[in-house]
Amino acid sequence: MIANKLRWIHFGFFVGPFRANHWFVLIGTLYVAFAVPIIAMSKQRYPSKFLALLRVHVFGNLLAFLLISLHFAGQITRPAEFYPQLGTGLGLYIIMTLLVATGFTHRFQLIPRIKSQTRKFVHVGFTFSFYILIGIHILHGLGFL
Ligand code: HEM
Ligand code: HEM
Repeated sequence: MIANKLRWIHFGFFVGPFRANHWFVLIGTLYVAFAVPIIAMSKQRYPSKFLALLRVHVFGNLLAFLLISLHFAGQITRPAEFYPQLGTGLGLYIIMTLLVATGFTHRFQLIPRIKSQTRKFVHVGFTFSFYILIGIHILHGLGFL
């Protein structure tokens, strides 16, 4: 994100119909939206593969967070005349950051005083906020709201 801000790298160029920045966020968001429930169901179905699936969950979501962060960096560094009205997108980025933070807290038991069920409950709770807000953000970004 810093490299983007300092213009060392730039993802505003077009790839087909969209800017690279937009492809990143589309891929990152679609991945999180579909992979998270698929992996959760697979864990129930194949309990012996739990650890491998958890690794895919952690690394896949971190990669998606990287792509989403590049879109976020692109948005908040737009020139003043085209600056967006920060709202649902900013909210989404805060939720994504909290998801990663609570994911790490849960995975590595960073705050052992908090019970495991509580840590997981908070992490999953933010996932619901993500689903609600992404729908509103897309409708808003495309001008339907
Ligand atoms: C977690 C994922 C996402 C994050 C963190 C995010 C973040 C942001 C931010 C911060 C803005 C500036 C305006 C605002 O705050 O609302 C924005 C604008 C925008 N986003 Fe996203 N976004 C995400 C996903 C998406 C997706 C999947 C799409 C594709 C449909 C999208 C399309 C847009 C568009 C078209 C705008 C421009 C709106 C304008 O110019 O007013 N975003 N996004
Ligand atoms: C950024 C997007 C993320 C979303 C939307 C998300 C969502 C979820 C959901 C819905 C669950 C419960 C279902 C399941 O067990 O699979 C879960 C569990 C879990 N997540 Fe995440 N997560 C994200 C990122 C992360 C990250 C970055 C980490 C770790 C660094 C992480 C660590 C965990 C752990 C340890 C569990 C508990 C597994 C278990 O005890 O069964 N998550 N996550």
